[in-house]
Amino acid sequence: ARRMVTANAAAQILVASNRGPVSFREEDDGTLTLRRGGGGLVSGLSAIGHGESSPSSVWVCAALSDADRRAARQAPHGRLDAAGHDTGGQAVRMLDIDPGTFDRAYNGVANSVLWFVHHLLYDTPLKPVFDEDFRREWSSYEAYNAAFADSLAAEAARGATVLVQDYHLTLTPRMLRERRPDLRIGHFSHTPWAPPDYYRMLPDAIGRQVLTGILGADRAAFLTRRWAGAFADCCEAVLGASVERPADPAADLAVTHEGRTTRLGVHGLGADADFLRSRARKPDVDERLAALRSRVGQDDGVPRRTVVRVDRTELSKNIVRGLLAYRHLLRTRPQWRGKVVHIAFAYPSRQDVPEYRVYTEAVRRVADEINEEFGTESWTPLLLHLDDDFPRSLAAYRMADVALVNPIRDGMNLVAKEVPVVSDEGCALVLSREAGAAAELAEDAVMVNPYDVIATADALHEALTLPAEERAARSKRLAAAATALPPQKWFLDQLAALTA
Ligand code: G6P
Repeated sequence: ARRMVTANAAAQILVASNRGPVSFREEDDGTLTLRRGGGGLVSGLSAIGHGESSPSSVWVCAALSDADRRAARQAPHGRLDAAGHDTGGQAVRMLDIDPGTFDRAYNGVANSVLWFVHHLLYDTPLKPVFDEDFRREWSSYEAYNAAFADSLAAEAARGATVLVQDYHLTLTPRMLRERRPDLRIGHFSHTPWAPPDYYRMLPDAIGRQVLTGILGADRAAFLTRRWAGAFADCCEAVLGASVERPADPAADLAVTHEGRTTRLGVHGLGADADFLRSRARKPDVDERLAALRSRVGQDDGVPRRTVVRVDRTELSKNIVRGLLAYRHLLRTRPQWRGKVVHIAFAYPSRQDVPEYRVYTEAVRRVADEINEEFGTESWTPLLLHLDDDFPRSLAAYRMADVALVNPIRDGMNLVAKEVPVVSDEGCALVLSREAGAAAELAEDAVMVNPYDVIATADALHEALTLPAEERAARSKRLAAAATALPPQKWFLDQLAALTA
């Protein structure tokens, strides 16, 4: 007989994130099939099941689709593991949130407003407009955060530790503290944090609510000191909180507001070297590598050089300016014509947000223009792929001479860290100074201002002309820096800092 699982307040460690470790798809015959997710966040958080003593843990996440909602409804208390789904041994509770509420919270508030604010993406003369539609979306965001707080409160054992993830869940820490003052609560931001002048665009009460929501945690952590500092600056400017900034760069900051102190820590997430290196040498990657090599081709018997980028089609990734920089390179340095190919993978993302659809079209248009302007019978200057294919990404990483990572702003950017780790012969990295990864990789990358397409074209030229030994030496140092904090350590360090 199936064991009855109730929300019996037994978990010692809890993780809460919008996207969970598994998702479902509904097949034509109506059955649900489960997919396990990858990526840094998921593999880092998966460490919850593998601690020394392996205390009991639960991962609380939202149902993101109709198939997810069906699976969540069919499982006792949303507990997928208890319903017999293969969650890799991890207890997962998936919240069945009403689709309208979810859409307004996720697309309306999280992906539009909060994401735009932290990545400085607004075209401010026209947007944002905070009207009654936005107030309605905001109420949904509150309800969605409360649903997480309720289920965490129901699952957590006395004195348990809860790690709340990202901008989707900024209100949950405070809501949870109100329900369960006995818990130890952490929050982690995987994005940048906006500077106060930009942050103040949010309606005043809402801007305060987000900050005090996160301050409901005992410790809030960020990917770099820059983002932790910006959060502290907002607490000072918007809340009038007092901030302690210790001289020791490794020490936590402290924010005191209304008599409570929240520590601010920094944990830079690194690439998962073991996983990437073995995955990148599997036969499906070899196959794609051969296919890519033949499409890139040779010029006079010499394999063409490659500039590789791999992103989701995301406004903050700055794909269009990257393409314009490549075009400028070909226009102003004709010696590269026929000798280089730009491999650009721009995978679909958040197509429910109208700006993303418009942006995807712009990427396609500029790419076509480049191939029309320079392409010949025997040379296609740009290979653009808009369909997601992970093994093909790894193949491109392996053959990259230059990796282009030029976001407008980015919490960390794992691609910048993954390419040097996977690269067969060492690659040069052109990196935006506005990526969190810059804090760890600036010494050996060619750094750029992401808005300056001429400087970016110059950087591409510099990277393409680095002598082979210099490039290999830099790539090795980049890989070492990139793997210093593997996902599991990243997770366990946070846990240790929170419980210290
Ligand atoms: C990026 C960000 C994360 C965020 C995630 C959400 O990876 O770095 O901070 O959680 O996007 O993506 P999603 O597809 O779930 O909207």
